[in-house]
Amino acid sequence: MIRDRSSVVITGGASGIGKALAFRFGKEGHDIIIGDVEESALGITTSELRSAGILATGIVVDVSDIDSVRSFKDRIFSEFTPPYILCLNAGVGAGGPISESDILDWEWVLGVNLWGVIYGLNAFLPFMQEKNNGHIVITSSIAGHLSYPNMGIYNASKHAVLSIAETLCYEMQEKSSDVGVSVLCPGLVKTNILDSDRNRPEILTSNDSLNESNDDDGRKEAVREIYNLALDPESVADLVFKAVQSKQFYIFTENTFQDAIKSRHRDIESARNPTLGANLVEEHLNDTH
Ligand SMILES: NC(=O)c1ccc[n+]([C@@H]2O[C@H](COP(=O)([O-])OP(=O)(O)OC[C@H]3O[C@@H](n4cnc5c(N)ncnc54)[C@H](O)[C@@H]3O)[C@@H](O)[C@H]2O)c1
Repeated sequence: MIRDRSSVVITGGASGIGKALAFRFGKEGHDIIIGDVEESALGITTSELRSAGILATGIVVDVSDIDSVRSFKDRIFSEFTPPYILCLNAGVGAGGPISESDILDWEWVLGVNLWGVIYGLNAFLPFMQEKNNGHIVITSSIAGHLSYPNMGIYNASKHAVLSIAETLCYEMQEKSSDVGVSVLCPGLVKTNILDSDRNRPEILTSNDSLNESNDDDGRKEAVREIYNLALDPESVADLVFKAVQSKQFYIFTENTFQDAIKSRHRDIESARNPTLGANLVEEHLNDTH
């Protein structure tokens, strides 16, 4: 039987920002469907949502696998009305210089962060367009606007999904469609992203993988310290909720990076060579202290 209530589909909904989105939209009375590759966390989050009185369903999905995303969609469409709000949020992080990046690092991160969004749109967008309602939120990052060193793979994935979201926004305007589009561009948010390796498939892991290098361990520890000062996912979810209500496209979570973004845009406008500005980590530490 199809439940005739508006539903919210959130990929990567078992943890961090996705989990906070599930609680935020759930509080408004929507059916919540969270998809995640981490089965144990998915079970725990689904129980927590239900304990809070939210109608929640957890479905295992690997967003980097088209067949898995298609089964996810089929299951949702057999039990719920098409998603009213679709949050393509699942993502993983990996750091390290491009020169040391293994092809498997690229395949893993782009598989989840970029192909996950592509497969999600391929599965759900036609139905949402046909119904001519609903809202799509794609999670990019500040890393979609800037190109800080030692984050090349992640930067590439987030620039790509930002561009997809902007293109989709124009296309919906061109078609006079009522399907809304937003792109979430968080700064630093207190989540489990630094432990993304927990879901890295063995087949996409090599001995040279960036996340196993000592350099990367050091970088991670430095970032981990900052993450303790970072935003709570709940405040990010609140911003997303308001943005969907007001059909706001860009969702920034803080002002810390705006000068760096402006500086990049000025470089582009004047075709000036990019120069490395203040270090991301130091800049954020100075701002938060
Ligand atoms: N935390 C931050 O500072 C920050 C900043 C900017 C953008 N983001 C983005 O926010 C999104 C959510 O990340 P988060 O910070 O909440 O991290 P998180 O690790 O807490 O949550 C990410 C979720 O995605 C799931 N996931 C990973 N691989 C998957 C796959 N193949 N299929 C399905 N699910 C998968 C994980 O199991 C996890 O539940 C990501 O797209 C991330 O890039 C995070």
